[in-house]
Amino acid sequence: MTDTGQMPAGGPGLPQERRLVTEIPGPRSREKYARRQQLVAQGVSTTLPVFVEAAGGGVLLDADGNSLIDLGSGIAVVSVGNAAPEVTARVVEQAQAFTHTCFMVTPYDGYVDVAEKLAEHTPGDFAKKSALLNSGAEAVENAVKIARAHTGRSAVAVFDHAYHGRTNLTMAMTAKSMPYKHSFGPFANEVYRAPMSYPFREPVSISGREAADRAIDILDKQVGAQNLACVVIEPILGEGGFVVPADGFLPRLREWTEEHGIVFVADEIQSGFCRTGDWFACDHEGVVPDLVTTAKGIAGGFPLAAVTGRAEIMDAVHIGGLGGTYGGNPVACAAALGAIEAMEKHDLPARARALGDLMATQLRAIADQHPVVGDVRGRGAMMAMEVVGPDGRTPDPVRAGAVSAYCHQHGVVTLTCGTYGNVLRLLPPLVMPEQLLTEGLGVVAEAFDATR
Ligand SMILES: Cc1ncc(COP(=O)(O)O)c(C=O)c1O
Repeated sequence: MTDTGQMPAGGPGLPQERRLVTEIPGPRSREKYARRQQLVAQGVSTTLPVFVEAAGGGVLLDADGNSLIDLGSGIAVVSVGNAAPEVTARVVEQAQAFTHTCFMVTPYDGYVDVAEKLAEHTPGDFAKKSALLNSGAEAVENAVKIARAHTGRSAVAVFDHAYHGRTNLTMAMTAKSMPYKHSFGPFANEVYRAPMSYPFREPVSISGREAADRAIDILDKQVGAQNLACVVIEPILGEGGFVVPADGFLPRLREWTEEHGIVFVADEIQSGFCRTGDWFACDHEGVVPDLVTTAKGIAGGFPLAAVTGRAEIMDAVHIGGLGGTYGGNPVACAAALGAIEAMEKHDLPARARALGDLMATQLRAIADQHPVVGDVRGRGAMMAMEVVGPDGRTPDPVRAGAVSAYCHQHGVVTLTCGTYGNVLRLLPPLVMPEQLLTEGLGVVAEAFDATR
């Protein structure tokens, strides 16, 4: 808070600098964290216990006056920057007009405008429709409902290392037990898992098409193509470790689903909205899904998610079968229209490619110095390093955690991920100034030196 008791202003006007005035976390954050510990369930975790009071561009300003470099974007959400002017202006205007009617009761333009933008930017040149929801998990659940209604089949195929959310159905679809599923079963049935293409961890090198055929063979023999309503896949794995499948994997899967009338659902919740250097990660290989799920980057930090896809599949559901009280809330829709305007105006796919080139160069330089970096991978501004032991393969989550902790103590917000917890992932806001990103990556390099 400022001396007048107001929150300090955020947005791109904040000085774009790393500035530490206390240890991390500082005394005010520690005090606030003690209160949080008393009042907030421990199941809700905290990566870095600094309390944020303002943010913008590529920095977070904490309660002690520290300015931290943000390499996480609130888990791939504020791609347009925190408190982006295009978002806040529309949010204020909408909030002053009305905050809720429930679209299912009395509609409004913002919802339809977001559906129009989704139809324009998602892959595929055909008539599309959308349903708007509140969270990524809800979007994935709805995609499955739509695919089941369309096909009259029940089975759902997902992949090793997948992350699709924390609701009951999406827990079943998510691969990793701890912390996402442990002690929460029983899970929804009719969910089947196939092997993913994970180039760094293949026992022998295989092509993308071969990896797809390996998955197809298992699904065909163990589930039966005729029983599958949908295949749900992240075109680049998010929580599972930023794994980019080998070229040809997604196109071959798409080909097979088309042959068998299986709905191909691309979960672009983490990879979508310019993050990978295209509007959607599927665009890279020209893969056109039947349905796309989106959330995170769509609305500059407001809770909004969507299922978008072929009009005839979306309309397989009876009237009243989709929706929810808050889905497509007018303020969240206004935020999305502002965020999409910013992506178009500032050509954020191009920015993601530029930041991606910069990251790839710096991360490869770190890998050259440190054999514990087994793999540098990703696309655009969705980049990661997989940390391994001296044998070049065994996952080393302890070292990855130590590197991340060093970054936090030195004013850089980093996140880890991966089935083995050994992947350091980097997701800067796409509006981050390049010199700030370079400085942040310099701290990452120092972290590897310091934790030798
Ligand atoms: C690929 C993917 N799908 C689904 C989800 C779930 O989204 P939410 O946390 O908004 O429910 C996430 C969240 O990380 C995700 O990365």
